[in-house]
Amino acid sequence: MKLFLDTASVPDIRTMWETGILDGVTTNPTLVAKEGRKFEEVLREVCALGVPSVSAEVVGTTTEAMLVEGRHLRQIHPSIYVKVPMTAAGLKATKVLASEGTRVNMTLVFSANQALLAAKVGAAYVSPFIGRLDDNGQDGMELIEDIVEIYQNYEYPTEVLVASVRHPVHVLQAAKIGADIATMPFAVMDKLVHHPLTDLGLAQFLKDWEKVPKG
Ligand code: E4P
Repeated sequence: MKLFLDTASVPDIRTMWETGILDGVTTNPTLVAKEGRKFEEVLREVCALGVPSVSAEVVGTTTEAMLVEGRHLRQIHPSIYVKVPMTAAGLKATKVLASEGTRVNMTLVFSANQALLAAKVGAAYVSPFIGRLDDNGQDGMELIEDIVEIYQNYEYPTEVLVASVRHPVHVLQAAKIGADIATMPFAVMDKLVHHPLTDLGLAQFLKDWEKVPKG
C-alpha cells in the first residue's frame, strides 16, 4: 500500500521523504492556507524533492474554470495529480483532463456511487473521506470496502486513496481491505513508526551493551 502525507508543510514532507516510507503528498485549499505560502512555490519544492505523486486541487467550480486550472497545475511538474471535486462539473472536467493524459484525483467523495462515477470518467485516484464520515456517525471503512469491491468487479484501474485518515487504526483497516493508498497527517504517519515496546527494548539493549567488555 502506498502511504501519502496529507499536508502542505514542506519541512514535514522532507522529514518523511528522507525516511523512505513516503509515496506521495495530497494537499487541499485548507492545508495550503495553513502554511501561509504561495501554492505553486510549495508544489515546486515538494516535486523537487522527488515525491512521485503530488495532488494539487482546483478551486474553480465550473468545468471551464477547472480545465483552465487543471491544465495549468499539471504543467508545473510531471508528478502533479490534479484534484477535482465530485460535482457534475468536476466529472465533466475529469473526463476531459483524463483524455488529455492528466491524472485526476477526484476528491470529496462520500458514497460508493460517487466513486463509481469517478472511475467511469477516468479518474486516476478516488478520495473517499472516511474520517468525516465517522465524524457524522457513518462507518467510513464500510465505504472503502464497497469501493474496493466495486472496482474489483469491473476491473477499474482507478486507485482507492483513503483520505481524511484520523489515526493508525484507519491505516491498518485500509491495508487489510486492500485499498491502494492512505493519505494522513504527519502525526498519524509518525505514529506508524513508533511502539512503546520498541523504545523500551532498545533502551534495555543499549543498557546491557554497556556491560559487554570492550576492546
Ligand atoms: C484528502 O485529500 C483531504 O485533503 C483530506 O484527507 C481531508 O482530511 P480532513 O477530513 O482531516 O480535513
